[in-house]
Amino acid sequence: MKSTYSYDKLFEIGKVDPKVWSSFTEHLGRSIYGGIYDPDKDFSDEHGFRKDVKKEVKDLNLGVIRYPGGNFVSNYNWKDGIGPKKDRKKTMEFAWSSIETNQFGIDDFCEWAEEVGVEPMIAVNLGTGSIRSAAELVEYCNHDHGTYWSDLRIKNGHRKPYNIKYWCLGNEMEGDWQAGHMSAEEYAKKAREAAKMMKWVDKSIKLVACGSSYEMLPTYLEWDRTIMKELYPYVDYISTHNYNMNSGQGNTDFLASWKQLDTHIKNTKNSLNFVQSLQTKYRDKQIKICLDEWNVWNFQDIKLDNLDDLNGMTTFELTSAKKWEEHPAILQEKYSLLDALTVGGLGIDILNNTDAVEIACLAQLLNVIAPITTDEKGNLLKQTIYYPFALLSKYGRGTVLQPQVSGDTQKTSYGVIPVIESATVYDEAKHQLHVFALNSDTENDATLSLNFTRLGKTSLTQHIQFTGNDLEARNTFEDPEKVVPTEATVKDANATDIVLAKGSWNVLNFD
Ligand code: AHR
Repeated sequence: MKSTYSYDKLFEIGKVDPKVWSSFTEHLGRSIYGGIYDPDKDFSDEHGFRKDVKKEVKDLNLGVIRYPGGNFVSNYNWKDGIGPKKDRKKTMEFAWSSIETNQFGIDDFCEWAEEVGVEPMIAVNLGTGSIRSAAELVEYCNHDHGTYWSDLRIKNGHRKPYNIKYWCLGNEMEGDWQAGHMSAEEYAKKAREAAKMMKWVDKSIKLVACGSSYEMLPTYLEWDRTIMKELYPYVDYISTHNYNMNSGQGNTDFLASWKQLDTHIKNTKNSLNFVQSLQTKYRDKQIKICLDEWNVWNFQDIKLDNLDDLNGMTTFELTSAKKWEEHPAILQEKYSLLDALTVGGLGIDILNNTDAVEIACLAQLLNVIAPITTDEKGNLLKQTIYYPFALLSKYGRGTVLQPQVSGDTQKTSYGVIPVIESATVYDEAKHQLHVFALNSDTENDATLSLNFTRLGKTSLTQHIQFTGNDLEARNTFEDPEKVVPTEATVKDANATDIVLAKGSWNVLNFD
């Protein structure tokens, strides 16, 4: 098997925005409570923030972190989460059938985000929340002083405004699992009015319209067309979500999931192009995609073999271990090597869509479908998917080049696709190249032939490979480094043909 990728620096897909390597944390399970916040423990600081988590999150060098949901936000009143903690009330949390203690809220999140050096991206409740409450949240966060909400922030111990730039207008409003779900027309009107008011408070903010995500819904893409006809002048981004599941389709098809994501992103892009083409006045405004939830999600804690359990409940109700617990340990996926290779492929695809995708949040960050898991004793575990994500965040910065590709292909349920899928990022200032490559053939090694002659002299300095004989292997607290990337020996720095192990995800660094 051989694939040839030829490059010229004149042919580029686009510059990678730092927000492409972002994440998401929701009031769901142990994502916030037990993940970020674990007060009165010797492994937490004086604010109750876990010190181990702070260090790992800082190291990931994330662009933004989206908060507080997810489905959670459509039930959430942000005013319940501010002020003295002893006065905060416990509320019923309907998205995940849990009890919300409100011990962590917007001030806590902004304080934590500053400590870990990440910009917050805040979602407002456009399900059960009012447009006035959304504008008041902007006032609380961004207005300097002299009004009720800004002065309340100061009273709550935060003199300086947070100046939050990125705001999401609701979450997955297309789905009937969402509290306050509405039609595209209704959403467009509510989001437009919220956008107006939020921008009246602070005209510098950037807004994300809630686009469609679920390909099985009859409104998929039609939703985008309808809402963007109304919202195009008011927003800067449209969101979409995409999760890939290993539903027993076979390793090759699962590894080919990047192709599904590719089509998904291009569908959103095409909807935007369609709306933009309808109005000449929109021609100069480029709306970008905010892929604000992406990951592999295998729904491990749902026993689909016991279909009687479904009994009329929605998927999301099923994910609650027991009803009305405080931060139950739900959706704590344990990722395999195969999942990690698939995540690596999805990351490659995000790079190759860098002309359209400006923000992308791995969903989620901690404990819930996450690269990082913590336990109650103060231990932290890097799941397999942590590694490709961390490597993408480290080396996936610069200009993504558009190669000429020829080589072997394979038939998958997503069509005929290359055996090796790759993305190359060029850092012109340092004259460094970073090639990410997935060999999705789990039976045979494959050769990646790189033609960089038009880029000047390059030599291979490092080959990081993520592979193994057991695709089902997982890291555990008992064996935390069972599945980690290793360095392959570089025998010839000038070689242009590089062998990629069967079923492997690779980073090739060139100087
Ligand atoms: O990330 C978990 C959930 O997935 C989010 O709450 C929701 O937006 C999506 O369906």
